[in-house]
Amino acid sequence: MLILGIESSCDETGVALVRSEGAAVPALLSHALYSQIAMHQAYGGVVPELASRDHIRRVIPLAREVLAESQHSLQDIDVVAYTRGPGLAGALLVGAGVACALGAALQKPVLGVHHLEGHLLSPFLSADPPEFPFVALLVSGGHTQLMRVDGVGRYTLLGETIDDAAGEAFDKSAKLMGLGYPGGPALSKLAEQGDATAFKLPRPLLHSGDLDFSFAGLKTAVMTQAKKLGDALEARKADLAASTEAAIVEVLLKKSLAALRDTGLKRLVVAGGVGANRHLRAQLNAACQRQGVRVHYPELHLCTDNGAMIAMAAAMRLQTPGGASQAQTTYSFDVQPRWPLADLVV
Ligand code: KG4
Ligand code: ZN
Repeated sequence: MLILGIESSCDETGVALVRSEGAAVPALLSHALYSQIAMHQAYGGVVPELASRDHIRRVIPLAREVLAESQHSLQDIDVVAYTRGPGLAGALLVGAGVACALGAALQKPVLGVHHLEGHLLSPFLSADPPEFPFVALLVSGGHTQLMRVDGVGRYTLLGETIDDAAGEAFDKSAKLMGLGYPGGPALSKLAEQGDATAFKLPRPLLHSGDLDFSFAGLKTAVMTQAKKLGDALEARKADLAASTEAAIVEVLLKKSLAALRDTGLKRLVVAGGVGANRHLRAQLNAACQRQGVRVHYPELHLCTDNGAMIAMAAAMRLQTPGGASQAQTTYSFDVQPRWPLADLVV
């Protein structure tokens, strides 16, 4: 079975083709991605209307590209999957509209996928896929959550951020330091040259006794520190970047370890854009090795938004008993800009 996946929830248009045979782990045949980052950079963040218009321009050429690369034609597609939410409403509507139009034209079923389920299942696209059950640390631009994952659609929320997401903390701190958008990768790169102990920054909710996160106070502390430094900021930027990264990473690490301890599970999956952070990976790898925990990541280029994870999540849903009934042939669609992952069932 061939599944075409379309991702358009934010500032990346992604299309991919996945093959699913029986109960085997589905295989990625081809994927193509167009990042709008350069377009939004001038505004210091994503402009939703511009994002929607650009998705319209990119999605069909990207679909052509993945079909050509895998030497398939439109008629070979068995199911069209798209990101139904959460995300920017207008951006989601582009992917949903295109998927339903394609499905109707081909007379093939269409399946709306949860964006975070895509991130969560993206490590199954790697050479070393995880096994259920596991603890998942979902760290993206809009979400920071710890979930217990017992299977496809069997997600229990263990804890989440009560304000900003980890990616937002990276992005907002980077913006304060004049590092542009999106700030996570830039801040992380600069941090490599800095001293992570140079500034004492808060580790919010580190000792709260639960698995929730809070990053808004950290951003304020970075702002206060930057103001205090004034003209000296430029010379101390790498130190401030390293200190900020260390604070975010320490909280993510300690809470992940606490979630593993609470659940008694020995497997951790890290997904979402912040999962590309090298410092986070190094710290998690070292701590988990000490505790006999296996850590799984998506391949680096599949950490941030992409179509492969959407096609993969659809394929895995379709393999799950009851999952196939979710593919629909009415071709009417609604998107879910806000959609809690724990609400998902198979
Ligand atoms: O998952 P994603 O691509 O989009 C959302 O669904 O939000 O995550 C994007 C987020 C941004 O906040 C970006 O700054 C962050 O992931 N990010 C990173 C790194 N690469 C991407 N943060 C820290 N270090 C990185 N290397
Ligand atoms: Zn994402």
